Amino acid sequence: MDAIELLERHHRELEQQFSSLKKASSVSPEQFSTAADLLATHITIEEQHFYPAVRARRTEDILLESLEEHLSLKRVLADLLALETTDEKFGPKLHVLAEQLEHHHKEEEENLFPKVKKLLDDAGREELGQEMQGRMNELRRSEPRKLVLDQTDAAAPLP
Ligand SMILES: [Fe+2]
Ligand SMILES: [Fe+2]
Repeated sequence: MDAIELLERHHRELEQQFSSLKKASSVSPEQFSTAADLLATHITIEEQHFYPAVRARRTEDILLESLEEHLSLKRVLADLLALETTDEKFGPKLHVLAEQLEHHHKEEEENLFPKVKKLLDDAGREELGQEMQGRMNELRRSEPRKLVLDQTDAAAPLP
């Protein structure tokens, strides 16, 4: 699958999951873990596969800003993972995460992806998408949400 299509599909799925958690009167730990795993998987494949593959002079600034936004998302996610879903701070933090997520997706889709389409042709995006799907399948066998817990000090470097 085309790498951009894959990421956009993920964005919609993440927005749907987090907005339904936000609206729910109570959230079970399992429901939250599922959404957290999806978000951690998405961030991981972007940082380890997509961003390095689309790094160029014209994308560098956007990628660096995106990595800072990822750091902010990871920090809120790590805070949430440390709380019981019944904690009074859980709901407000979940709202913050959902808002940051929507903002970040908009930036990627409006500022980064159009540039990537000029950098990588159809075949290049297809190949990258395949690689990302392979990595996602690997991550699914573990608990990817736990990966963010030790990534909250600084933004990931742009390899
Ligand atoms: Fe991202
Ligand atoms: Fe993304």
